[in-house]
Parts: sequence; structure tokens; C-alpha cells
Amino acid sequence: MVFQNLLWSLDSGVLTITINRPDKLNALNSATILEIKDAFESASKLVGLKGIILTGSGDKAFVAGADISEFKGLDANQAKSLAQRGHDIFNLIENMHVPVIALVNGYALGGGCELAMACHMRIATSNAKFGQPEVNLGIIAGYGGTQRMIQYIGKARSLELHLTADTIDAEKALHWGLVNYIETDKGSAFEKALYFINKIGTKGPIAVAKVIKVTNDYFIDGVDGFSSEVDAFGDIFNSNDVTEGVNAFLEKRKANFKGK
Ligand code: COA
Repeated sequence: MVFQNLLWSLDSGVLTITINRPDKLNALNSATILEIKDAFESASKLVGLKGIILTGSGDKAFVAGADISEFKGLDANQAKSLAQRGHDIFNLIENMHVPVIALVNGYALGGGCELAMACHMRIATSNAKFGQPEVNLGIIAGYGGTQRMIQYIGKARSLELHLTADTIDAEKALHWGLVNYIETDKGSAFEKALYFINKIGTKGPIAVAKVIKVTNDYFIDGVDGFSSEVDAFGDIFNSNDVTEGVNAFLEKRKANFKGK
């Protein structure tokens, strides 16, 4: 697939999507965010997809935020629509049926931090920096950051970052639970992400999708995650994967899941 502000690379079932506006530190302008939507919608239809690595072009930034130049002159309704569009797209990422791993290679600020948080795992390079500096502009996070950050690091630390606009480095992000791993550079972070996607790719695809779904259900108001788990557990037994997984164990061989 060809995009203006994204690079799309599919190799052996692993899709790497690179946000490619390095001269603007990969800031999310409207065109880019719409391309992210297109990319994830297309990815969701790919047969044999094992997982997605989402990263930023260059070594300086994952994404340095929403494109601030597009905030100029917005009225309240336009701002609300912009935020809603971001929410819809980040929800799409969070609800992908395969693992989405953010490879955070530098600044992940504002919308960049929010984008990383919408992914299922985060692997940071040692120069990564995380923050929600919106209050510096007199605004607040609008792509789910006030909510998702609490889920990862708790209310006190989330409020600290959102209220002070301070950034934290990769070590602190790891300590606080915002990232899963730190790697020295982009190459080793990519290898680590690849390792996880390939490992998860050997598991039952239906089960993987259900784990993501029921985990997300925990955070949806009015949805009982425990009931979701019971339903999902039952649904899985409609698939051939269960027979294959159980037989493979009993026959002491590797399972060959078909995702059916
Ligand atoms: N929106 C639009 N453009 C941005 C941007 C953003 N969020 N972040 C960086 N850029 C642009 C800069 O305007 C600059 O463009 P220019 O060369 O045409 O002037 C280019 O990217 C490089 O950024 P620069 O500020 O020169 O790099 P730096 O190394 O001095 O500083 C940051 C890096 C990340 C600290 C700084 O760019 C910054 O504070 N960005 C905004 C972060 C933010 O508030 N994000 C939340 C937005 S809601």
C-alpha cells in the first residue's frame, strides 16, 4: 500500500507501519491520522497477519504530538470532532485482532504518547521520552490520554504528567509501567517486537483475538469483563483450533492452528 505520510512494509505476516514526517517529528496532522485509519482498516483484512509494529521515522521521534499548526482557528465543534475522530481511530488500533506493538523511538508526546498507549505493548529505545504537554498550550489531551494513562500508571502519576506537562524518560516509563521493555536502539527494539509478534503468531489466532477483546472489555463502562471472558471461552469451543490445540498437546507435537 502507498501512503503520503506512512510507510507500509509487510514481511512474513508482520506489518510495520512507520509514521513518516521526520521533519515535523512525525506530528499527526489530519492527513496522517486519516492514513493511520486506512492502514489499520486495511491491515484488519489481511489474511495471515501475525501482528503490527508501529513506529516513527528517524531516531528522534515516535510522534511529537498532534500537529499543533492545525489547532489554529478551530472552534469548539471542530475541536470536538477532531478529538472524536482520534478516539475512533485509536480505538480501532486497541481493538485489532492481532498484537500491535509500538516501537517508541524518541519523543512520544501528546498524541504520540496517546498513540503508543492505544497499542497493546510498548517497546522503547533508550532515548524515548513520554509526556502529555498539552497544558503548555492551554489545552488537554484529546486522543484518550487522560483515560488510558490511568490504566497503565495509575491516577496520581497520570495527573502528575498531564498537569505538569513534564516528560519522563524510558527508564521511568518502564518503572511506572508505561512501557514493557527498553532496548538500546531502534534495531534491537525492532528485533524485540518481532520476537513477540512471531511468538504470539504460533498461538491460536482466535484465542489471541479473544484475549485482546476481553482485556479491553475490563475498561468499558457497563461491560462485565468476567462475563465477557465466560462468553469468549465458550465461543472458542466452536472453533477447530481448540481440537487442534488439545490434540497437539496430547500427541506431544506442535499445534498447527488455522484460526478457524
Ligand atoms: N506539531 C507540529 N509541528 C511540530 C510538532 C507538533 N506537535 N512537534 C514538532 N514539530 C515541528 C517543529 O515545529 C519543527 O518544525 P520546523 O522545523 O518547520 O520549525 C520540527 O517539528 C522540529 O521540531 P523542533 O521543535 O525544532 O525540535 P526540537 O528538538 O527543538 O524540540 C520537541 C523537540 C519535541 C521538544 C518540540 O518539537 C516540541 O515541544 N514539540 C511539541 C510537543 C507537543 O506539545 N506535543 C503535544 C501537541 S498537542
